[in-house]
Amino acid sequence: MERILKEQNMPKHIAVIMDGNGRWAKMRGLPRSEGHKRGVERLREILEAAKEAGVEVLSVYAFSIENWMRPEQEISVIMNLLETALKKDLLTFMKEKVRFKVIGNRQRLSPETRGIIEAVEEQTAGNNGITLQCALSYGGRDEVIRAVKKLMASGADQEAVTEESLSALLDTSDMPDPDLIIRTSGEQRLSNFLLWQSAYSEFYFTSTLWPDFTKEEFLEAIHEYQSRSRRFGAVDTSEEYPAFAERP
Ligand code: IPE
Ligand code: IPE
Ligand code: MG
Repeated sequence: MERILKEQNMPKHIAVIMDGNGRWAKMRGLPRSEGHKRGVERLREILEAAKEAGVEVLSVYAFSIENWMRPEQEISVIMNLLETALKKDLLTFMKEKVRFKVIGNRQRLSPETRGIIEAVEEQTAGNNGITLQCALSYGGRDEVIRAVKKLMASGADQEAVTEESLSALLDTSDMPDPDLIIRTSGEQRLSNFLLWQSAYSEFYFTSTLWPDFTKEEFLEAIHEYQSRSRRFGAVDTSEEYPAFAERP
């Protein structure tokens, strides 16, 4: 079903935990690598859908810092897929004005991977369309610790430690917080994704495995987001009944 979305209530930033590639492959008797391959195709479609919907930032969890614990062979499949996809998609990024950037602990990436992502980041830095923020070798706790270390190294005194000064040192410093976080595959957890930034995010969990996640379901998630009341701890003044009506 085609969804009618309210343009004025579009999430600026959507973050996606692309989970379930391995299970998708296993169900079909295929190697896990096939699930990851299919996952890359899904990402292309969802990026396109996000762009069409007018979303400003699409963040995707591609590889967590804990994923380094996986077998070496699977890690190399994922890194190779990423490198190949970036080389292939650079032209499209330029044509579609996509800005690409990576968040995460780069020190753990191989020099080859780092070289390719840095080249694509540099080339797309001036693009003013949607930003594709890719979390790679990323852990929310690791990101906060790295930010605290930077703050300490700057010699900041206690007064200078504020939510703003810490936010400014996170990998996501130039991005708004995610309005909506989608997780596929039925798991209902963050798995160390955007811990600081998700303080007031809305969540959409679906049992759909990432290789089966479609543009239609992505729009469904935005539709559901638009039906939520985001109060940020305050009282919703648009509510119909007066919550604290004065007594006669
Ligand atoms: C998500 O799919 C992709 C990565 C974590 C790299 P998984 O590989 O976690 O797939 P499942 O969860 O085992 O099905
Ligand atoms: C989270 O998925 C990381 C990515 C999707 C890249 P995992 O499959 O690694 O998470 P857990 O282990 O189920 O929490
Ligand atoms: Mg998983």
